Amino acid sequence: MATEIKTIGVLTSGGDAPGMNAAIRAVVRTAIMRGYQVKGIRHGYNGLLTEDIIDMSLRSVSEIIHRGGTILYTARCLEFKTLEGQQRAAKACRDHGIDALVVIGGDGSFRGCNAMAAQGIPCIGIPGTIDNDIACSDYTIGYDTAMNTAVEMIDKLRDTTQSHDRCSVVEVMGRNAGYIALNTGIAVGALATLIPEVPYDLERDIIAKMKATQKTGKQHFIIIIAEGVGRAHDLADQIQSSTGIDSRATVLGHVQRGGSPTLRDRVTASRMGYHAVELLRKGIFNRVVATKAESIVDYDISVALSMYKTIDTTMLEIGSTISI
Ligand code: ADP
Ligand code: F6P
Repeated sequence: MATEIKTIGVLTSGGDAPGMNAAIRAVVRTAIMRGYQVKGIRHGYNGLLTEDIIDMSLRSVSEIIHRGGTILYTARCLEFKTLEGQQRAAKACRDHGIDALVVIGGDGSFRGCNAMAAQGIPCIGIPGTIDNDIACSDYTIGYDTAMNTAVEMIDKLRDTTQSHDRCSVVEVMGRNAGYIALNTGIAVGALATLIPEVPYDLERDIIAKMKATQKTGKQHFIIIIAEGVGRAHDLADQIQSSTGIDSRATVLGHVQRGGSPTLRDRVTASRMGYHAVELLRKGIFNRVVATKAESIVDYDISVALSMYKTIDTTMLEIGSTISI
């Protein structure tokens, strides 16, 4: 018998990302406009285990489209990774009349969706992470804002780096992926950008390049290192001892996760949230919403989790050619 959906639950899970609020807003409003009731689950999957569940209305998502973070809070929940935790979470859904879940998060959160689906709760995943590391989707909510924040910060760093003829090594986030680093490196004119997907040689890719550039008259340098490669402080020390150039490390850190979402993040989040509810309305369950060549598409969760995403290494070549 087909699952009849009257009430949709929505939660955010894993690391927060700017634009998650816009996605929550889109899910809540689309669902209510289509005649569903909506419940917000706070603190990710934890909220199912602690029954931290609130009623959502059209007005409970007012004034959030421009706000970073997530009004539903987010968390990483170890207990939910156990079968017992998943059974309790499904029972909480049934006890609160939640017939289906929309989960905004990353790969781990989508594994959680699969677990809930196995317990009989239909789920839809929406990619929300600054890392852009969801294989099935060209784009993830928060990525654009995070990169713009990184660029704004590094532009400030450039001023002092140039004044002192120094080298600034900047560590950006991305977990095991180099997407933030790759684009940011081009946008700030970094002499070198190191990403986990492509091995590097310190002498060839950084030291020799710095020396060659010095001969052209430039005395300050910005190097971007993705956190998945290693620590900025170690690299700055290596550069200073190899070149004698005064080097400093800056770890941008969690500042990249905050701030008002860009237009791109707000619009993508709104489109994805709308699409998620439309899938449930059509009786299409257990999918991950994604973008493909600017269109909104969706994939079976297990298929989405088995996909592999490549990085465009031409971007590295572009950066290394024009940042001299
Ligand atoms: P992200 O969703 O950003 O990848 P995590 O990997 O930390 O972040 O996952 C977020 C949450 O999703 C975890 O804290 C856990 O509650 C749930 N989760 C992760 N992996 C699994 C799994 N294999 N099975 C069930 N739930 C999972
Ligand atoms: O996945 C988003 C992200 O910010 C990664 O870029 C980073 O590696 C990780 O989360 C940091 O996690 P935490 O918030 O637990 O420090």
